[in-house]
Amino acid sequence: MKAVLITGTTSGIGKAFAEKFASVGNNVILVARNEQKLKEQQLFLQDHYNVTVKYIAYDLAKEDAVDLIANTLDEWNVYVDILINNAGFNECGLFVKTDIRKELDMINLHIRFTTQLTKSILLKMEEMGWGRILNVGSTGSFIPSPTDAVYSATKAYIMSFSNALRGEYSKTGIKITTLCPGATKTEFATKANLSNTLLFKMAVMKPEKLVDIAYPKLMKGKRLIIPGVYNKLLVMFSMMLPISITNRITVSMLKGHDKTKKYK
Ligand SMILES: NC(=O)c1ccc[n+]([C@@H]2O[C@H](COP(=O)([O-])OP(=O)(O)OC[C@H]3O[C@@H](n4cnc5c(N)ncnc54)[C@H](OP(=O)(O)O)[C@@H]3O)[C@@H](O)[C@H]2O)c1
Repeated sequence: MKAVLITGTTSGIGKAFAEKFASVGNNVILVARNEQKLKEQQLFLQDHYNVTVKYIAYDLAKEDAVDLIANTLDEWNVYVDILINNAGFNECGLFVKTDIRKELDMINLHIRFTTQLTKSILLKMEEMGWGRILNVGSTGSFIPSPTDAVYSATKAYIMSFSNALRGEYSKTGIKITTLCPGATKTEFATKANLSNTLLFKMAVMKPEKLVDIAYPKLMKGKRLIIPGVYNKLLVMFSMMLPISITNRITVSMLKGHDKTKKYK
């Protein structure tokens, strides 16, 4: 069976992607930790769309996560032709105030897991000669962010990794895309205690709208997707301005978070 594998489907952007792919007739493999939500999502998608939906409930920051996924796909005889590396979270704050265990989990999830899963899936995609991989970065992929240093660094890795891989597959049917959302209305901001920051009080996009923008560009095989004019301008200015200025702007955008308070 051919299927789309999406990580982080129990809420937000991953959930919207799962519904989009199911609605256009793709079989879907859902991956996240919350088994109850995954079960409900499986039933909902199978009830509403005539597709097969399976799920894997696991903490993807764990070292054996990719082995578990690869073995499960083999057992089910599932071949992944579209991979959405979306699962992620933020641990925001001044670097000395943030929780190092969460930051190491973030590095494990955003960097180690994404890298290892991409390799595992690509090896099979090569045999078929066609595939799409979407790695979810952030506008922060372009902006080293004081008071969000580790998060923005992991997202910079995702963009650099995806851009380089894309070059390896330039003359093939396999395309690697980086999606760089800005503030999006999901559980992300609440979980990271970012809801009171300027960043999440300005232009916040709905995940369904983000996916409507991203889906056709992904299928066309675009290299980079920055959804929305506001996010495009943010990235453009961050590339034009000196880093000392973007540092200061980022600090202002993230003020309001309880771990960023050194800046009075
Ligand atoms: N929302 C924004 O403003 C924004 C902006 C830029 C980039 N992004 C990126 O967009 C992606 C999706 O985030 P979102 O906004 O949709 O946030 P969200 O609503 O919090 O969803 C995150 C998803 O990731 C899963 N997840 C988190 N840690 C996991 C782990 N260790 N193992 C397995 N699954 C895990 C969560 O499921 P479980 O809890 O069930 O495991 C959930 O399904 C992330 O990579 C994020 O960095 C978001």
